[in-house]
Amino acid sequence: MKNPSVDTHLLPAERAGDEPLLAVDNLHVEFQTRQGVVRAVNGVSYSVDAGETLAVLGESGSGKSVTAQAIMGILDMPPARIPKGEVRFHGTDLLTMPDDARGQIRGRRIAMIFQDALSALNPVFTVGWQIGEMFRVHQGMSKRDARRKAVELMDRVRIPGAKSRVDDFPHQFSGGMRQRIMIAMAIALDPEILIADEPTTALDVTVQAQIMGLLAELQQESDMGLILITHDLGVVADVADKIAVMYGGRIVENASVFDGYRAPAHPYTKGLLESIPRVDLKGQELYAIKGMPPNLLDMPTGCAFHPRCPYRKENCVTDAPPLYTVSDTRGSACHYWREVLDDGSN
Ligand SMILES: Nc1ncnc2c1ncn2[C@@H]1O[C@H](COP(=O)(O)OP(=O)(O)O)[C@@H](O)[C@H]1O
Ligand SMILES: [Mg+2]
Repeated sequence: MKNPSVDTHLLPAERAGDEPLLAVDNLHVEFQTRQGVVRAVNGVSYSVDAGETLAVLGESGSGKSVTAQAIMGILDMPPARIPKGEVRFHGTDLLTMPDDARGQIRGRRIAMIFQDALSALNPVFTVGWQIGEMFRVHQGMSKRDARRKAVELMDRVRIPGAKSRVDDFPHQFSGGMRQRIMIAMAIALDPEILIADEPTTALDVTVQAQIMGLLAELQQESDMGLILITHDLGVVADVADKIAVMYGGRIVENASVFDGYRAPAHPYTKGLLESIPRVDLKGQELYAIKGMPPNLLDMPTGCAFHPRCPYRKENCVTDAPPLYTVSDTRGSACHYWREVLDDGSN
């Protein structure tokens, strides 16, 4: 076990070893709203193993964060409801686990960096105190030891001069350094899974790359499973092993990062890839996918992407595509995935 001091009891299936570290299986999440039922997640499946990085991609509103919140067990229910699906950690479904057992896992064995992380630090406490809180609260550590651990962690996330900066306040750090502090808090208890939800969106391009590089290094040091959520395909290409592309609360393509980026098998992935700004094509007009993401209260018939799809044929309007098997490591929810794939392999 990675974390004997924190967690001494194994989950029942933990020694089985044939299950992925974390598996989301046919997950459905809906919200009761005044306008009606918002089906935010509609049968999402993905998995991540130790030492593996999964990038979850898709435009804003596609259900990436809601899926992550369901994994963490932090959805407010109601208004949220999980009518179907499993989130298995070492083979045990977290969704049906008693609250106290779940609480032992949340933040310790599965940790998350939130989308609005930069505003999450408390302005009136020093960063050392806030990082140390992880140890004081979860492990009953003394103030002095917790402060020492905070310095260690600040070193680990490569904050220069950690020892002299541990008593500084959040506003004395740049955005990139504050994000490092958030990462330090997330990895404090040595989680097996780290979910990073748009960890670099608020940062400039150079700092984004540094933070991605840091996450990749930390993962290698500790063999974590890493789930990187982003709408920006450019920032994850170098660090991800595999991708899951979401549209309208569904996975429309999953692939190894190599296959997916080389030749997408879904028109939406293709569109996303073509809208990445490329340094080598400076000045060239940026392709953006035409049209708007679907309205979850009024989903298009057939394939949800059909109104925006250049490959659309008649049956796309009427028949919802299943996730077709493209290869044993790849799936695409497009009736015409062969055509898309051929176009990309030119
Ligand atoms: N508490 C909520 N009540 C109603 N709808 C919600 C709630 N939280 C999220 N949603 C809806 O679920 C959809 C997916 O949201 P989200 O997972 O945050 O998207 P993403 O992270 O991909 O940008 C959005 O349409 C959003 O409006
Ligand atoms: Mg989000």
